[in-house]
Amino acid sequence: MSKIKQRVLSGIQPSGNLHLGNYFGMMSKMIDYQANNDLFCFIADYHALTSNPSPKILSSNTFNAVCDFLALGLNPHKTTFWVQSDVPEVTELSWILSSQTSVGLMDRSTTYKDKIAKGLKPNMGLYSYPILMAADILLFNSNLVPVGKDQKQHIEMARDIANRFNANYGDVFILPEPDIVKETQIVPGVDGQKMSKSYNNTIPIFGNDKEIRKKIMSIITDNASINEPKDKETTLFHLYCLFADKREQQILSEKYDSPGLRYGDVKLELFEKIMDFFSPYRKERAMLQSKPDDIKDILILGAKKAKDVALEVLDKVRSTVGLSLNL
Ligand code: TRP
Repeated sequence: MSKIKQRVLSGIQPSGNLHLGNYFGMMSKMIDYQANNDLFCFIADYHALTSNPSPKILSSNTFNAVCDFLALGLNPHKTTFWVQSDVPEVTELSWILSSQTSVGLMDRSTTYKDKIAKGLKPNMGLYSYPILMAADILLFNSNLVPVGKDQKQHIEMARDIANRFNANYGDVFILPEPDIVKETQIVPGVDGQKMSKSYNNTIPIFGNDKEIRKKIMSIITDNASINEPKDKETTLFHLYCLFADKREQQILSEKYDSPGLRYGDVKLELFEKIMDFFSPYRKERAMLQSKPDDIKDILILGAKKAKDVALEVLDKVRSTVGLSLNL
């Protein structure tokens, strides 16, 4: 008998240029999940709308995020892959869940407070962001939700909301488990902090050679002189190891211990490695980008698969709460 695969679901906001932190943090992990699980993966454009991007930017970021995922190996036939707003049923569930969610729970959202502190306008979309995210998760009967540490509270809220609903109405929702990206998977940016668009310290994956090279050359290093042994608990060393096999890591480690190492040479080597590593994906991406009709077909297929599951769950929820008359 074949084992029922667990459903793994995650969404990623379309937020511009894909960088190494996105890739090693979440995307490669998601792509790996598709081998042995029933993967549901979507581009969270409704969520991106909460920070009021221009229409042009939102739609081009969404298109780019779709191309990124497909180029990096997401298989739309194996996985259910869609754009969130192509399955608008999620907003209906979000509304229904809103009536089960206390204001107090939302008031505890740390991401909301962080966003306001950063200067975003306190709109209702930002405030209810965790409810829409709960709807994303619960609408597809998700068992496991891989996310970064910053999203952990949102998963806890989704569980709270599901628990409250189940307690009031009976067992309708599956309680999702979080799968938090490990500290070791966090990629440092060129300044040594976590790589993130908001710190402006990213290394893009699909940028042009010149841009990527410039970013790599700007990785901060200490000012140890050429003949001193070098510290390996550093950004450059960590980034290099992401692209090197065990033997290459060993060789670099020995060079760090011996006189004569120039950081500039390591950076150039890292640049070559990054370009080599992403070269096949780059080609694939260029090909995809030149065929928007194929992308459209892929997204229609994904939305259909997602909608089939969504409608089943939503029907059950609607009748559970009394929104459908059984006449
Ligand atoms: N909020 C998530 C982020 O910014 C994206 C997201 C939206 C998500 N809905 C989700 C992640 C549902 C997991 C499950 O990273």
